Amino acid sequence: MITEAQARVVAEFKGLLPCSAPREIRAFDDAGAFVSVLRPVDRAAADDPALVSALTEWRLRHRENFLSVFTPTARRTRRWLAQSVLDAPDRVLFLITDERGDSLGHIGLSRIDGPSAEVDNVLRGVDTGSSRLMHFSHVALARWACEALGVEELFLRVFADNARAVASYARVGFRPVRVEPLIAVQVEPGETRYEPCPEGTTPNTERRLLTMVLDGTALSALGRGRQGAKAGAGG
Ligand SMILES: CC(C)(COP(=O)(O)OP(=O)(O)OC[C@H]1O[C@@H](n2cnc3c(N)ncnc32)[C@H](O)[C@@H]1OP(=O)(O)O)[C@@H](O)C(=O)NCCC(=O)NCCS
Repeated sequence: MITEAQARVVAEFKGLLPCSAPREIRAFDDAGAFVSVLRPVDRAAADDPALVSALTEWRLRHRENFLSVFTPTARRTRRWLAQSVLDAPDRVLFLITDERGDSLGHIGLSRIDGPSAEVDNVLRGVDTGSSRLMHFSHVALARWACEALGVEELFLRVFADNARAVASYARVGFRPVRVEPLIAVQVEPGETRYEPCPEGTTPNTERRLLTMVLDGTALSALGRGRQGAKAGAGG
């Protein structure tokens, strides 16, 4: 279960509790050059039509890479941000932005649960910005999770055939720990959800789910890097 201290930091970062320090994480490359600012989605962001529209378009473009495959709409994205992201105490979604505050992609933490948390919703929305944008943003997030939330291990789940994402995560330091068969469940017309295949059930898809872990040793190695986190709460 998420600890009280973690829930407070998450709520402060999401703007649901007062926070005196800047609610952002700054990412730098190995040479100390600025790469991006990670800004948590708050109520204002969730209500911003331009942002909702960008997130909807990005999800549509990459929809086959996520466990729930559907045709996104602005209405659904807004509802997802408000209900599934903002209202969930153990979850925070960061917009990866440039210096001017323009959004380039996003990366989230969910299932924050004492010593562990899941990295989710990793997506590069635009080609502008550093070619290593996602790498250093991911490293900055992992470091923040360790320092501000006290997380000791991160995990993530990715389709095993998403070679680009798997390679990207491996470069951050995640290692594969499990590959599972999946079943594709038709939730409603036009919407499929991939779920781990229960034992004794025959998979109905070739796709496999890969779980990768960034353990304590790898996390501390990232902490010794030159990444900078301007953590507004607890960081
Ligand atoms: C997954 C995703 C976020 C990864 O982003 P990315 O920009 O490809 O990731 P990286 O920053 O790791 O790699 C970018 C480039 O920097 C290079 N790079 C990154 N880290 C590096 C390092 N430490 N050393 C050398 N090169 C590095 C990579 O080789 C890559 O170069 P290439 O474009 O020539 O292949 C992106 O591909 C994406 O948005 N995909 C669609 C959505 C998706 O699948 N999300 C995952 C769902 S689980």
